[in-house]
Amino acid sequence: MSRRAAHVIAAEIVRRPDCVLGLATGSTPVGTYRQLIDWNRAGDLSFRQVRTVNLDEYKGLAPGHDQSYRYFMQQNLFDHVDIIPENTQVPDGLAADADAECARYDSYIHDLGYSDLQLLGLGRNGHIGFNEPGEAFVKETHVVDLTQSTIDANARFFASADDVPRQALTMGIGCIMAARRVLVVASGADKADAVYNVVCGPIDPHCPGSILQLHPDVVLVADEAALSKVTAAGVAVCG
Ligand code: F6R
Repeated sequence: MSRRAAHVIAAEIVRRPDCVLGLATGSTPVGTYRQLIDWNRAGDLSFRQVRTVNLDEYKGLAPGHDQSYRYFMQQNLFDHVDIIPENTQVPDGLAADADAECARYDSYIHDLGYSDLQLLGLGRNGHIGFNEPGEAFVKETHVVDLTQSTIDANARFFASADDVPRQALTMGIGCIMAARRVLVVASGADKADAVYNVVCGPIDPHCPGSILQLHPDVVLVADEAALSKVTAAGVAVCG
C-alpha cells in the first residue's frame, strides 16, 4: 500500500520536478515516506526543486518538540532527502498570533499556485488535515479545537491523553480542494467507517473527507481492512 502511494507521489515529481506537494503526518504515510527516501538515496528520485506545504501543526508545540508535525516531517522525510529546507512549510504552532499565521499560510499556498498533489490521511472521524466534523466546511486555514476522538486517537504518541494539545492550526478545505490531484491513504479496520463515509456517504461536514467527492481527481490507496465496508457495499476497487 505504501509503495503504491509512493508511486503516485514519485510520478508527480518525475512529471514536474518543481511540483508543490501538500503533505500529511500521522502513522499512515510513514511507509510511503520511507519508500520515497529509498528511491532518493538510490538516485532515482530528486526533491531538489520540490516545494512542500504541510497540512497542519499542533498549537503550542515548538518545531523541535518530538510530537510536533515539523519534527515528524524532519524525522520521516526531510532530513533524509535532498529537499531544500527553505522549500518546506509547516504552520508555526508557536506563532504569537495564530490567526495571523493562518492567514499567512493561506496566502503562501495561494502564491505557490496551490498543490499539484495533496497527500491526505483520514481520521477515524473522517477528518482531513485537522478539519474536524462540524456544522460547516471551513475554507480557510484556521485554528481548530480538536475533538475527543482525535485526542484519543493521537494519545498513543504522547505520554498520556492529557498531554495531547487541544488545538491545532490546519489547512482549510479550500486549499485542499484547490490541489490539482488528491491522494488519500488509509489502512486498518478502524478506518473502515471513515473510508465508507468518504466514498459512499452524503457530502456532509460531519464527515469532512466527504467533500472529496466533489474533487475531480482523487486517488484512494487503502488496505483491505480499511476498504472492507466499501467493498461490502459493492464498490469496485482495483486490486
Ligand atoms: C496529519 C493529519 C491527519 C491524519 C489523520 C490520520 O497531518 O492531517 O488528518 O492524516 O489523523 O492519522 P493516522 O495516519 O495516524 O491514522
